[in-house]
Amino acid sequence: MPEVATLAELRSQALDCTRCALAAGRTQVVFGVGDPEAALMFVGEGPGREEDLQGEPFVGRSGKLLDTLMRQELGMDRSQCYIANVVMCRPPGNRDPLPDEIAACRPHLEAKMEVIDPTVVVSLGNFATRLLLGTTEGIRRLRGQAYPFRSGFLVPTYHPAAALRGGAEVVAEMRADFVRAKGLLGARGR
Ligand code: URA
Repeated sequence: MPEVATLAELRSQALDCTRCALAAGRTQVVFGVGDPEAALMFVGEGPGREEDLQGEPFVGRSGKLLDTLMRQELGMDRSQCYIANVVMCRPPGNRDPLPDEIAACRPHLEAKMEVIDPTVVVSLGNFATRLLLGTTEGIRRLRGQAYPFRSGFLVPTYHPAAALRGGAEVVAEMRADFVRAKGLLGARGR
């Protein structure tokens, strides 16, 4: 991918992307949303039905939980952070993204992180966490601590859909992860 200076340029490149088969089934590319200078960035898995229709990440049930935890634990809303996904186009029937789809979309995600340069990235679930940490380990083992990442930190946590399924205990662990992320936001002096 050529070097580009702004998220707007990245977005316009992404809207035409046909690097993988997911392009054929999408309603629209779900590029990402939020503050281009955010200190905190969330990375989820991929758009679901609502996201594909609306063109914005995490607008369905999982997104409601994400918004709630963000407000309650971080005191912020989605305009004050940045939210993106491992893949920008909806996998059919909400199946898991395939390795070649994740690899095809990775340069888009890397470019976003390069431009936004967040202090803390919170990876939501197995797909984002494994990709960004370069591991096959599961989220249960990986969460609970922060990892050095790019020029800041990565804080892995559950995907909100897993928290919706898993109940109070999982939500409580997610809250603790959000508090961990908040504590690191000032670490690079932004
Ligand atoms: N799940 C995700 O991982 N990302 C979204 O944008 C929506 C649901």
